[in-house]
Amino acid sequence: MKRLLFCLVGLFTLATFAVAGDVEVVDLGDGHGMVRINPTQKYLILPVEDTAPDVSISVMVDNVQVETFTVRLAINKVDYTVPYELSKYAGKHVVLRFAMNPLERGGARPKVKDAVFCNNLALANSYDASNKEILWRPVYHFAPQWGWMNDPNGMVYKDGEYHLFYQYNPYGSRWGNMNWGHAISRDLVSWEHMPVAISPDGLGTIFSGSAVVDKDNTAGFGANAIVAFYTQASARQMQSIAYSTDNGRTFKKYAGNPVLTGDVADFRDPKVSWHEGTHKWILTLAVGQEIRFYSSPNLKDWTYESNFGEGQGNHGGVWECPDLFELPVAGTSQKKWVLIVNINPGGPFGGSATQYFVGSFDGHKFVNESPKATKWMDFGKDHYATVTWSNAPQNRVIALAWMSNWQYANEVPTMQYRSSNSVPRDLRLFVKDGETYLQSAPSPELLALRKDKVMSKSFSVGKAYTIDQLMSDNKGTYEITMTVRQKKQGNLSMRLMNEQGEEIEYSLDMAKRELTCIRDKSGVAGFSKDFITPTVTQVDGGDLQLRFLVDRSSVEAFVNDGRFVMTNLVFPHTPYNKVMFSATGGSVSVKNFTVYRF
Ligand code: FRU
Repeated sequence: MKRLLFCLVGLFTLATFAVAGDVEVVDLGDGHGMVRINPTQKYLILPVEDTAPDVSISVMVDNVQVETFTVRLAINKVDYTVPYELSKYAGKHVVLRFAMNPLERGGARPKVKDAVFCNNLALANSYDASNKEILWRPVYHFAPQWGWMNDPNGMVYKDGEYHLFYQYNPYGSRWGNMNWGHAISRDLVSWEHMPVAISPDGLGTIFSGSAVVDKDNTAGFGANAIVAFYTQASARQMQSIAYSTDNGRTFKKYAGNPVLTGDVADFRDPKVSWHEGTHKWILTLAVGQEIRFYSSPNLKDWTYESNFGEGQGNHGGVWECPDLFELPVAGTSQKKWVLIVNINPGGPFGGSATQYFVGSFDGHKFVNESPKATKWMDFGKDHYATVTWSNAPQNRVIALAWMSNWQYANEVPTMQYRSSNSVPRDLRLFVKDGETYLQSAPSPELLALRKDKVMSKSFSVGKAYTIDQLMSDNKGTYEITMTVRQKKQGNLSMRLMNEQGEEIEYSLDMAKRELTCIRDKSGVAGFSKDFITPTVTQVDGGDLQLRFLVDRSSVEAFVNDGRFVMTNLVFPHTPYNKVMFSATGGSVSVKNFTVYRF
């Protein structure tokens, strides 16, 4: 009744219409408009249409512009809503100014009064963030409650808490308005959502970066302050810092920002770590297609040390999100340095991927011990922006990747949220044929998810071997482990399938020692032609330990405890609950095929 009344008011006043008691939309003509708000409740609920053009909003509080952001205001239909926080402006006069953008380039701006968002704006004291995407929202992988997520940022461990910050758009499920979202975990499998930690300011939006615990108060923000480093992005990119003296609950931006500037366009993603040898902080930065190293005694004043990258590794795209750490080499007393460099595009199967270099670092310069080799950390399509936790306990080096690919991340068929992370993985180094490689095994914390062993059996696969039902009441979250007794040649295929006949296939070529993953029939797959590219990895000879971590919209395959890994998204209409094996070139023995329900 109330709404009807306001619609009538709208009819009579033409250019101005109240949509709720304290919200009034004013059509300023030619696609321009404004919303006047009396902020009597906590949130303004903004109606969004996923593919509508972005609208740039300027927020004025008592006539002063306090912030700008973009949102795809619904024109034809409301796909979902996002909350804009008003509580901080209680008692003030809030005006949002905007201009609608044309639906297509060169077209006219849509009419404000015809756009459906006008009648769907609302004030509210709560926002319903409950899961509306039961089918695909991951259960044990981190995903934001709503909105867009890309890179993990600022990962730091302190006092029993693993902090995860992340590239976050709170105003829509596509990339934009970069903030640092925040979540905390004590066990690396369950996450508590925290309020946004760092928001855009006059120096720009908040791009990727890292965080450290400043135990010795080198920066003067207090002993044990968490200090965060992030790129501020506007027309150019620069590095800024913010610090927290309350265990990451709130951050204060350093008044002297930025702390590091450059004279090139791509100048971003600072990863800061402590170098014991030189007793200095090291900042590793991605700059175009190279890495630059800087050092500092106090986290504020940075001195350029050296660069790395020309002629080394893959250069099919921009270098992003680097990381630098030292790791022991399994089976030796040696330690080596690892430089992670994420790259987009240029990945082995198209789009984004994580490459790394192994060598030495003396606090000044990184030297790659194998300048001719290109090494990839994961051989799936959905493993990017991988970085590690700072200050992890027991000298662990724990990595986390964004589980998507820039080729289609904005198009994946979820809407309330977009993107999740990989499972955390503990990193080690191993030597194979004289080369040193990274091994990424699921962090041991993942074992706690094994609620119920629903099956364990050994069998021989001839032409076909089918397990009709993995478990009753399959909710789409489980683990499969098995040992495959490899032969000199022949092929073993394993297909995880659902009732609709959707499937993800893993095919092992034992002569070539190659594992291929095919997901073109895995479910909803047509949103991008790039989604269906098969992915391939080399594997070891001999018996192979295979481990598959399945969540509602992903399968992560680990071979021999993470010596070879494949991370891939899938969007099946129902959980895969059937397995079909087949072999060519004679039968293959599968031992201890075990299924754990999570
Ligand atoms: C990598 C990246 C970073 C950048 C961030 C912006 O995915 O492009 O280089 O800081 O995303 O969201």
